[in-house]
Formats: sequence, C-alpha cells, structure tokens
Amino acid sequence: MRCAEYCEVVANQPVATDQFEIEIHCPTVARYAQPGQFVQMRVQSGYEPLFSRPFSVFHRKPDRDTFSVVYLVRGTFTQLLAHKQAGDRVFVVGPLGNRFVVAEPQHEKVHVLVAGGVGAPPLYLLAEEMVHHGIAHSNVVVINGARRQDLLVCQGHFAGLGVRLFTATEDGSAGIKGKVTDVLESLREQGDLAPERCQIYACGPTAMLEAVAAFAQQHHVPCQVSLETLMPCGLGVCLGCAVKIRTGDGYDYKRACVDGPIFDAAEVLWR
Ligand SMILES: Cc1cc2nc3c(=O)[nH]c(=O)nc-3n(C[C@H](O)[C@H](O)[C@H](O)COP(=O)(O)OP(=O)(O)OC[C@H]3O[C@@H](n4cnc5c(N)ncnc54)[C@H](O)[C@@H]3O)c2cc1C
Ligand code: FES
Repeated sequence: MRCAEYCEVVANQPVATDQFEIEIHCPTVARYAQPGQFVQMRVQSGYEPLFSRPFSVFHRKPDRDTFSVVYLVRGTFTQLLAHKQAGDRVFVVGPLGNRFVVAEPQHEKVHVLVAGGVGAPPLYLLAEEMVHHGIAHSNVVVINGARRQDLLVCQGHFAGLGVRLFTATEDGSAGIKGKVTDVLESLREQGDLAPERCQIYACGPTAMLEAVAAFAQQHHVPCQVSLETLMPCGLGVCLGCAVKIRTGDGYDYKRACVDGPIFDAAEVLWR
C-alpha cells in the first residue's frame, strides 16, 4: 500500500542543532511503513527544488494517522522544510523501498544497531519493533554515534526503550571518544559479537557504513546497510541512485530506491 498525495503538516519542531522533527498527517504511511522504509517528499517554491528528496520514517502513529521524520538542515530542500508550519502541506510518496530484515531466530540473536547522525531514525523504528515483538532488551544493542553530543539523534528515544545503548562522539562530548567502530571493536573483545549469534544493522553516512561493513567482513558478522545516495525520483525511473552490487563474476548496478535502500553489506562495492 502506497500513497502519493498532499499531506498536512501537524508539527515541525527543532530537536537538536540544525535538526527538526516534522509530523505529517498521512494514514497510509502511518499504517504501513516498515523499519528502514522511506518517503519521497516535495516542497516547492517555484521550480526550486526541482526534485523530491528521500527521508526515512522515524515514528508511526497509526492512532493519529501521522508519521514523523527527523531531518538535518543541509541545503535548499531542508531549509524550505524547516519553514513549514502546522497546517502547511507537503507532497508525500510512500512508503518506499525495502526494510531491514530481522535475523532469525529473532529471540536468540544479538541485534546490533549502528547509527550515525541522522541515520538513527529508521533504526529507532527497528529497535521499537524488536522490543514490541518481545526480543529481550539485553539482546538489542544500539551504538549511536555523531561528531558531537549536540548532533546525536534519537538518543532519548533509544534510552526510553531500555535497550543496551552505547554512545560514541568524535570529540568525546558524550559517551566514548571515538567512532562507532571503536565500540564494535570493544564489544567484540568482550565476546559480545559472536558471528553465529549476531547481526548488524547500520544506517548513517557512507564513510561510516563502509567502515562498519569492513569490520563486519573482517569478523564474519552478517551486516545490513541502508545506503545514502541521491534519489531524484525514488520510484526506479531516473537511475540517479545506482549503486554497484557484487555479482558472481563482477558487479552490476542496482537502484537504491527500489532494490534498496537496504543491502547486504558484503554485496556492496563501495568505490
Ligand atoms: C533512503 C534515504 C533516507 C534518508 N533519510 C534521511 C533522514 O531521515 N533525515 C535526513 O536528514 N536526511 C535523510 N536522507 C538524506 C536527505 O535526503 C538529504 O539530506 C536531502 O536530500 C538534502 O536535501 P537539501 O536540498 O536540503 O540539500 P542539498 O542542497 O541537496 O545538499 C546539501 C549538501 O548535502 C549533500 N547531500 C544531499 N543529499 C545527500 C545524501 N543523500 N547523502 C549524502 N549527502 C547528501 C549534498 O551533496 C550537499 O553537499 C536520506 C537519504 C536517503 C537516500
Ligand atoms: S531515485 Fe530515481 S531510480 Fe532511484
């Protein structure tokens, strides 16, 4: 089930430095979005910006017929989005793309969710689903990373779920001083990342995903990554989101918007 329609903004509030959470009235996305799926949004002022932009679904509130997205103000589109107020309208297409697949047997695995910056929102939806499905809180490990404390996203939400939460900031302003891969390494040294028991799910900037994928490959831990590419259409039409995926005898291109955005990290060719 998917919608393509103008939807009303219910709220649009700052949540951290240059970050906002926007709540949008959209019964279809509120009911059907799965962890890792995204919506394409369009906000227009004349011809600018010409293309829609992808944003991961963060919260679903089926009882209010709303969903929300957390976004970082980067350029033209997100600056316009930050000016939207309750009652304004945005065009929404979604939910789109595939979802994170929870490794089986769900209740015996240690699920390690690795988030970087605004990669955190879809992993929050995943962690919430895991807890809702009765996976032990101790078996849901979240590593939330950012450059600085004020750039951490969803930290309070993860803490509220009661899962095992580790924080890494590059300047040491919260949690350990370092990167998410430093936390992965210390968990491995403590014996928490046994390959046969563990599954990694990662979302964040491409450099972080590449480092997490390299860690997973080195230590034989299965890993799913949500790729951040430009997505001009989000519908499989323009090929603007092509990514290189390994095949038996080389590589092929796949469209991150319809074949992804989530891929097995071992299949991704990063350059
Ligand atoms: C599946 C998916 C889900 C996403 N979910 C979220 C989300 O939940 N919250 C969020 O804040 N962002 C998310 N993004 C990224 C978001 O789409 C971009 O931040 C947005 O397109 C920026 O638009 P803009 O016009 O404000 O900036 P632009 O003017 O388009 O870009 C500003 C700067 O950011 C860079 N940039 C733009 N888009 C990307 C990108 N996708 N990856 C890396 N660099 C980029 C540009 O190269 C430029 O330097 C997601 C992207 C994908 C593919
Ligand atoms: S964004 Fe157009 S084909 Fe994927």
